[in-house]
Amino acid sequence: MSRTLVFGGAFDPPHCEHVAICKAAMKELGADRLVLVPTCNPPHKDGGFLSYDDRRSLAGIAFAEFDCVIDDIERERGGDNCSYKVLPILKEKYGDIVYLIGGDSVAHFDSWKKPEEVARICPIAVAAREGYSGVADGIKSIESKYGGDFTLIKYAGRDISSSLLKARLLLKEEVSELPSGVMREIREKHLFEDFMPWIGKLKDYQSAELFEHSKAVVKRAVQLNSKHNLRQDFESVFTAALLHDNAKQRPSLDGLDVPEDSIGTPVLHQFLGAEKAKRDFGVTDVSILDAIRYHTTAKADMSTLEKLIYTADSVSDDRTYEPIPRLREIAINDFEEGFLAVLAYTYDKLESKGGRIYPLTRDAYEFYINKVRE
Ligand SMILES: [Fe+2]
Ligand SMILES: [Fe+2]
Repeated sequence: MSRTLVFGGAFDPPHCEHVAICKAAMKELGADRLVLVPTCNPPHKDGGFLSYDDRRSLAGIAFAEFDCVIDDIERERGGDNCSYKVLPILKEKYGDIVYLIGGDSVAHFDSWKKPEEVARICPIAVAAREGYSGVADGIKSIESKYGGDFTLIKYAGRDISSSLLKARLLLKEEVSELPSGVMREIREKHLFEDFMPWIGKLKDYQSAELFEHSKAVVKRAVQLNSKHNLRQDFESVFTAALLHDNAKQRPSLDGLDVPEDSIGTPVLHQFLGAEKAKRDFGVTDVSILDAIRYHTTAKADMSTLEKLIYTADSVSDDRTYEPIPRLREIAINDFEEGFLAVLAYTYDKLESKGGRIYPLTRDAYEFYINKVRE
């Protein structure tokens, strides 16, 4: 009897680990057919950075060896694509199905809509990633709560972040984690070239070293956003991180509006950076501009995006001197703790130098550190 593995994903872009996981799961579960379900969540674009059609066609190329079916059910439904609604339709269509989910989904299975119904519809296979412990225990607790038939796939895939791949593609870096056909198609269709004009401009405004730093901040910010599930819009994170130091090496005021007391100080470039991001790159989103505006000083009561850019800027991979590697580890393990550690370190360093500490930094320290110590 034929058995079908159902695998949903944004495929934005599909990478080698998606393919490896499906291959292992089909073998372990004795499935002989693979159905891919690209996600589609209008109105925010349609669920990905790339269009639905591009994601669909890249998935077809990545999984070419499987002779798989790509099911457009999510696009056809036009939204409201909860698993408890979509899976029964797929079961009706394909018969004996097994639904493949990632190990990270186990941790928040409780927050799915109607988890008890999802667990009843069909067997669920779980693919864990290297470095994630506790998936087996998570499965046990789901089963005891909701019943259902869960199987942990033995193959543990490499921990690849699709959003980090996306960022690296947009930065025009070599990406070896994509199937060669996918990479070829991306080049031929000129996908992920959206930020090329900005990157060209930024290279004119920055030394090679500063440009490398900007790229490192983009990658760290995108990684922290996805690792800690901060749910910040990918393009906002990318834009703020890429442009955060756009004015660092072009300090001319050009009549732009910056605080008087920042002129001639190292913090000028954050205020000027926000104004020049607006003027020279056409950025209008206030939340992005503010993330640039406070990336050096920090301030009291920051938004998640502001904290993210501030932290990523301090712990980017190009900073190899002590104690940055230690702060980086803290931020990778716990976002809030990382942010606080960076703020405390920066403030203490400024204080030990004995110079003037910019008022916004004092406010931030008072708000986040002294408040916590009280
Ligand atoms: Fe900066
Ligand atoms: Fe920076």
